[in-house]
Amino acid sequence: MPIDHADSVKDLRPKGFLWGASTSSYQIEGGATADGKGLSIWDGWCRQRGRVAHDDIGDVACDHYYRYVEDIALMRGIGIKAYRFSVSWPRVLPRGRGAPNEKGLDFYDRLIDGLLEAEIEPWLCLYHWDLPQALQDLGGWTNRDIAAWFGDYAALVAQRYGDRVKRFATFNEPGVFTLFGYALGWHPPGLPDRSACIRAVHHVNLAHGTAVDVLRGLVTDAKIGCVHNVQPVRPASPEKADAAGASMLDALWNRAFPDPQIRGHYPPELADLVEPHMQAGDLARICRKADWFGLNHYSPIYARGDAEGAFGFAWADPPAEAERTRIGWEIDPQAFGQVLRDLHSRYRLPIYVTENGAGADEELDSEGKLDDQHRIRFIGAYIGAMREAIADGADVRGYFVWSLLDNFEWGSGYAFRFGLIHVDYKTLRRTRKASADWFAGLIQLEDDHG
Ligand code: FCB
Repeated sequence: MPIDHADSVKDLRPKGFLWGASTSSYQIEGGATADGKGLSIWDGWCRQRGRVAHDDIGDVACDHYYRYVEDIALMRGIGIKAYRFSVSWPRVLPRGRGAPNEKGLDFYDRLIDGLLEAEIEPWLCLYHWDLPQALQDLGGWTNRDIAAWFGDYAALVAQRYGDRVKRFATFNEPGVFTLFGYALGWHPPGLPDRSACIRAVHHVNLAHGTAVDVLRGLVTDAKIGCVHNVQPVRPASPEKADAAGASMLDALWNRAFPDPQIRGHYPPELADLVEPHMQAGDLARICRKADWFGLNHYSPIYARGDAEGAFGFAWADPPAEAERTRIGWEIDPQAFGQVLRDLHSRYRLPIYVTENGAGADEELDSEGKLDDQHRIRFIGAYIGAMREAIADGADVRGYFVWSLLDNFEWGSGYAFRFGLIHVDYKTLRRTRKASADWFAGLIQLEDDHG
């Protein structure tokens, strides 16, 4: 089983390997309008009927805004060394720019201080999808001015927290929110518009470069990265059209952000599409020195050719025989190991796995316990594959499980749970699952063998 495997290859990992957990603001905080917070695009999206399963909404979510002290204690109990959270842009800047909201800023002060007191390193992500609605009203990511607005927001965060926070991520999964939001219509703003999507991609990249410079200028010892979704894209069949669809999805999903940010150019599949939106010096503004590469990975994905699709492809299902988690995502730890090896040779940056985990519809049993062996098997197998990649030379420095808590899972609402800790959404009571005990045991084992 996983722990044995972990033990047998423990010497293959570098010392100081970082074990952490990740969350994001909209998915856990609640307090949607508390203390002067502005609305985000997700606040509005969830209010549109039919957008999210069961019309679920993040107004309360895990109520972390009010229960962060308990949540820090839970992290400490598991032995987690690092916590990746995101700042809600509209909580600290209700209109996205202009006057900051002091009470919103205070919340993250308290959170960061609590983490440091518990000896948990704060990893602060600037953007995990909850764009201020006021900026969406100005075109959101399709408006080139957003690079400067994002830079100003980064400056506010750096000035406020940079004395205590040293790890910064600019974006979480830019490949997901640009494609889902502007081409596939699954996330806000819900557009199927190829040109809007490409502009959004380019402006997110410009915003990344702008924020890296701002953070470096204000926090001299900052370690800065971006968190990317990277998953092998497989064609639904050997047909030519499906292969072409898969390579387009691969360009948008896996390479549209790290390639320009780290290697200074767009993937060939996208270069002509971006060209009309490019201004002199843009690539130099985008390609700024990064300190680490954040990888979110769950499974391979599938595409088929589709002439109707904004980019000539449609999403496809994994083969019927594929083993899957209960949320339906294929289980393939070897693919994860290969992604780590490939990223190491392509980008040559220290890699942190910033998300990995298993989603399921699950409930407490009659004794009030949750024995999530399926999650332990999943995480154990993925950590095993990571260790093998490390043994092969991939420079992987840390692993953050998604997620600390069950939370609002975007279009699936509260139907699927990813947490090490169960949250009862009626009472907001937290209960450690078997996977939390298992993860605590793994970290303890590593500490003992440190
Ligand atoms: C990732 C997101 C994260 C969570 C997991 C399951 O794509 O970054 O917020 O929803 O998937």
